[in-house]
Amino acid sequence: MCGIVGYLGNKEAFPILIKGLHRLEYRGYDSAGVALLNASGELNVYKTKGKVKNLEDYCKGKDISGTVGIAHTRWATHGEPNDVNAHPHYSQSENLALIHNGIIENYATLKELLIREGYTFKSETDTEVFVQVIEYVKKKFNLDLYGAVNRALTYVIGAYAIGIIEKNNPNILIAARKGSPLIVGIGKDEFFLGSDASPIVEFTKNVIYIGDEEVVKIERGQQVVINNLKDEIITPEVSQLELDLSEIEKGGFPHFMLKEIFEQPKSLGMCMNGRVSFDELEIKLRGITDNIDRFRKARRILITACGTSWHAGLIGKYLFEEFCHIPVSIEVASEFRYRKPVIYSDDILIPISQSGETADTLAAMDLARQNGAFIYGICNVVGSSIARGTDSGTYTHAGPEIGVASTKAFTTQVTVLIMMALAIGKELGTINHEKYHEIVKELINIPSKIKLILDKAPEIENISKVFTYAKNFLYLGRGYNYPVALEGALKLKEISYIHAEGYPAAEMKHGPIALIDEEMPIVVVAPKLDLYDKIVSNVQEVKARKGRIIAIVTEGDIEVSKVADYCIEVPDTEECLTPILTSIPLQLLSYYVATVKGKNVDQPRNLAKSVTVE
Ligand code: F6R
Repeated sequence: MCGIVGYLGNKEAFPILIKGLHRLEYRGYDSAGVALLNASGELNVYKTKGKVKNLEDYCKGKDISGTVGIAHTRWATHGEPNDVNAHPHYSQSENLALIHNGIIENYATLKELLIREGYTFKSETDTEVFVQVIEYVKKKFNLDLYGAVNRALTYVIGAYAIGIIEKNNPNILIAARKGSPLIVGIGKDEFFLGSDASPIVEFTKNVIYIGDEEVVKIERGQQVVINNLKDEIITPEVSQLELDLSEIEKGGFPHFMLKEIFEQPKSLGMCMNGRVSFDELEIKLRGITDNIDRFRKARRILITACGTSWHAGLIGKYLFEEFCHIPVSIEVASEFRYRKPVIYSDDILIPISQSGETADTLAAMDLARQNGAFIYGICNVVGSSIARGTDSGTYTHAGPEIGVASTKAFTTQVTVLIMMALAIGKELGTINHEKYHEIVKELINIPSKIKLILDKAPEIENISKVFTYAKNFLYLGRGYNYPVALEGALKLKEISYIHAEGYPAAEMKHGPIALIDEEMPIVVVAPKLDLYDKIVSNVQEVKARKGRIIAIVTEGDIEVSKVADYCIEVPDTEECLTPILTSIPLQLLSYYVATVKGKNVDQPRNLAKSVTVE
């Protein structure tokens, strides 16, 4: 949700900022802009509707000089995506320029106050109000920029990561965060600002993760100064980025999404590395071993997440109940946080998030913490807000996920949930030893089984071409593969804009069956499992209504294959591991349907990665 980038140093800022915007474009791509302070002390702002490429074209022939600057790629919240609403926003005097990721909730009230003070506004954004508040307090209390930002932050309610620069003041860049992510990179005589590490990693590996409610003063030739909103000085903690540049590039693939789908054997390997012992067939999860008493005494596990991460959480429910005998309740974070849920101090909350910045998941986590629950996070982005706010947890180590549609994040989340369920189940004695070892053994084989499915990409591409006509899709699954059906439907709709619904297969009779006719494609996730016979009946019911069936089946399948129009085979595996395999063809199917239809799969319309607003 909006990417922000900043630079202060001895190089020309523009190319660094533009490169940074390209890397952050996955966070929002409806408009983009840049503000630069040139050698004469002029503050130039250029902004335009559309992608970063449009901004580059727009800036041709303009004065883009300057060694300090800020830039922004937007996902609109207040005001439609157009040139005027794009960031950076000038203050009234045009002495200040601000970029902002987040939402100022009391902007309407502040705007009214400022209008009474004679301020006028060009845009419909909350961000313009924000910069005007900073200018207002700066003048009223005769403060320098750092003081003014600190003071202004006591007026605003909401979420923000901001960067601000001032005309005739080329040595200062001020930044602050509350709720939205912000990282400062420390180079040699230069500083970088980013919503994440991607615009920074090429230049330096030394970063400071800015904490919530902290304000940063970046000054040429000085150490970074940080204070919090209580005016306490914070000692900056410099961390080393483990990210590699190649991880955030397409590496020869036409899209990040396809690269990330094909990376899954590797990402699962990284996820299991050091945690699954190949020799002993054991799972070793530090977070679980250190907190096993918490799990032993847990009254319940609550899982909360959004979107794809919520689908992974649904699989978690099946896993924890089967192998740990702990009751699990799972809910989307946006409902959980506002529902006044009953939370006990002996509950364990598991928030699941790729980005670690999802606003609703963070809020749900805060609520559980206030009620004394233990928070065990599953997160991909190291150092993210969710990762930092948990009591313990397990990183998925999927590597950066840049395609907006989540793929490798999902399969690594499921892998972490499997490892957790096995580790807890073993400690609690709720899983049979033989079963435990069989599943661990099979888990080790999963990356090579994924490779076999990826080899079928051309076959899946051909199937996808048949179905680009469709306006609706139905996805059906049972048991562990019901969440896979939901995930398959989400993947298709978000990148191809074809309406798709996921359903528990047996539930079809209670309504959706009315939709089935000879036009309707129905994707049935039907690997050979306990409920196989039942799903065969569901497939027959679809066929009797002339639906066109694409089935995901286990190699050597006979029954479903007799009836389905198209079958994609996946290797046989343990039941609880099937979601990792069955989700892969569905990712490929949605990718190919969308690309054949000419859609931008990495940046689908209206979406953005990392939903930092509720
Ligand atoms: C779908 C997708 C979203 C995210 C959701 C949660 O492909 O990417 O549904 O899964 O916005 O995001 P995280 O996992 O970052 O909390």
